[in-house]
Parts: sequence; C-alpha cells; structure tokens
Amino acid sequence: MSATAAPHRVLSGMQPTGRMHIGHYFGALRNYVRMQEQYRAFYFVADLHALTTVDEPAELWPSVIAMVADWIAAGVDPERATIFVQSHVPEVAELHWILSTTTPLGWLERVPTFKEKSAQHPDNINYALLGYPVLQSADILLYDADRVPVGDDQLAHLELTREIARRFNHRCGKPVLREPKAELTDTPRVMGLDGVNKMSKSRGNYIPMTGDPEEVRKLVMGAVTDETRAYRTDPGHPEKCNVCQLHRVFSPGEYEAIWEGERTATTGCVDTKKLLAERISTYFEPMRARRLEIEARPGYVEEVLEKGAATARAVARETLGRVKEAVGLR
Ligand code: ADP
Ligand code: TRP
Repeated sequence: MSATAAPHRVLSGMQPTGRMHIGHYFGALRNYVRMQEQYRAFYFVADLHALTTVDEPAELWPSVIAMVADWIAAGVDPERATIFVQSHVPEVAELHWILSTTTPLGWLERVPTFKEKSAQHPDNINYALLGYPVLQSADILLYDADRVPVGDDQLAHLELTREIARRFNHRCGKPVLREPKAELTDTPRVMGLDGVNKMSKSRGNYIPMTGDPEEVRKLVMGAVTDETRAYRTDPGHPEKCNVCQLHRVFSPGEYEAIWEGERTATTGCVDTKKLLAERISTYFEPMRARRLEIEARPGYVEEVLEKGAATARAVARETLGRVKEAVGLR
C-alpha cells in the first residue's frame, strides 16, 4: 500500500517515567480514547526514549506495565487500539538510522527540549539527547500516522517530524512517508500545583490520575493559588489562580459561579480547594476502580502488549520495506 492509500491512523506514545497525572489525561490521553473510535489507533510506551533519563533498569518494566494499566483504566480499549512497547518493534531503530542520514544537524540543535536538557545536564550531552526527536519521528512515520494526540510541549517535535518526512520524500522523489499532524485537546497545557510551570512528573507538581481521595485532597490543599489574596476578605483573581483554572475542567457547568465567589470574596481559597479535590476524586473514581480490576488480573497487560507488538510489527515491516526500497537497500 502507498503512503497515501492506507486508512486513517492515530498514533501516540509516552515515556514510562513515573505516575500518570491529570496533565497527561487532559492534554493527551483523553484524545487517545476519543480517537480510537474513528481511526485505526496505535499507542505505545516509549521505553527506548526513557533510556535517556531512567537510570534504574529494574524500574523500567514495572513502569511500562503500570502506564498501560492506567491507559486501559482511562478507556483505551485493547480490542480497538494496538497497544505496544516501542522496543518490541526493533524496526523503529532501523528507520531512525535511515532518517538520521537526511536530517540536518542544525534542525536538531534548535529543538527547545535539546537546549533545555543540555542546560540541565551539561556533563552528559549525549548523542541520544540530540537524536531524540529523530527517533520520535521514526515512531510516527513507521505507522503512517495522520494524527498524533499530544500536549502543546510536543508541537516542536511534531513540526520537526513533518520536516523530516518532507525532506526524505524530496530525496526519494516520491511520497514515501506520510506527514502527520498534532491533535490537541482544549486543555493542551495543564498547569502544575505550583501555579507557574506545566504539570510534569519531573517537577513533582502533579496530581496522579489514580491517586486515592486522601492523597488528592492533600495535594490540592497544598496548591499555590492567587498570591495577591493575602486575607480571606480580599477579592480573588480567578484568572491568575490555578485552582480556579482547574475548576474550568472539573466543574464545567459551575466554574463561573465559583469564580464569582472568589472575586467577591464570598468564598475563600480553602473552600474552593476542598471542592476541587472532591471533584477530581469523583471524576477519576471509575478509573481507579478499573485500575484495581486490571491489577487483579495477573498477566493481562503483558498479554495485551504481546498481541499489540505482533500487530504493530506487521505494519512497521511494511513501511520499512517501502523505505528501504526507496533508499536503495536490497
Ligand atoms: P511529563 O512532562 O510529565 O514528563 P510527558 O513528557 O511524558 O510528561 O508527556 C506525555 C504526554 O502528555 C505528551 O503528549 C505531553 O504533551 C502530554 N502532557 C504532559 N504533561 C502535560 C500537561 N501538563 N498538560 C498537557 N499535556 C501534557
Ligand atoms: N516525546 C514524547 C514525550 O515526552 C514521547 C514520544 C516518543 C512520542 N515518541 C512519540 C509522542 C511519538 C508522540 C508520538 O511525551
């Protein structure tokens, strides 16, 4: 099949580097669930990418299993979507190499995450840090993905993937690879509990998706709110308060009234936080229950991944065959 004739596909991945949080859910995972209905879906755990930051080999596989359990609990359906582990489809490493031969170094040096990570680890600016987005491009292009659901921090990687595909096609003189597009939710950047940074595992400013109500309550009560509001009687500024912003997501029909209560100092931050904590726990309660059911089925996630790898590999081999032929490998 040519790059343009295949049915529409959605693909995305996440690194297994910690607990899933509400930023993941509202920024990306919610779209995984929605889009599996309309597209042929491929969702994978990016364990090869995780090697750039995970130091403890023994933690990697349990994190893979935990992440997939969270996806299934959130509604990703193994009967509809192909769920797999990146390293179980070694073809991706081969495509990564082939793409690297047409990717200018300057493009990679300009990627914001490369600059950030190099600044964070000046003593370990390794090749993989630079090559990271080429491997990500290979992930996407190997499955002829049309749409890639991600949060807005991934947009630069998606743009680069499009450029890499375009340049490769130009070199081949024909459309061998399909150019994908990012798919954002209406909350493409969920802010963290510190109120200033994106919610993120590495910053520890997150609320876990399947946290129990007590854990969620403690975290929300510790969140930074409107810092200009020193006393309970001072008027609040909901547009500057992250707890109020989260109410937009968790109290959709009611957030304007909550905001008004803050503005007029009728309600205090503590009330608004308590309500948010309750709303978050209620929202994720069905997923927590499903997560426990999945945990009670030993071997289930492994089975899903084994089946997923076989399906993904068949698709990957076909694309790689097309690519190899186009570059003259026989
Ligand atoms: P983290 O920053 O917590 O390490 P990842 O980089 O593993 O998260 O992100 C996995 C997916 O979830 C990506 O598509 C990313 O864009 C999305 N995502 C992560 N955090 C957020 C957030 N705070 N808001 C929106 N989307 C997010
Ligand atoms: N870089 C992504 C992140 O940090 C993970 C990722 C790897 C990915 N390969 C991908 C996302 C392919 C979408 C498509 O979240």
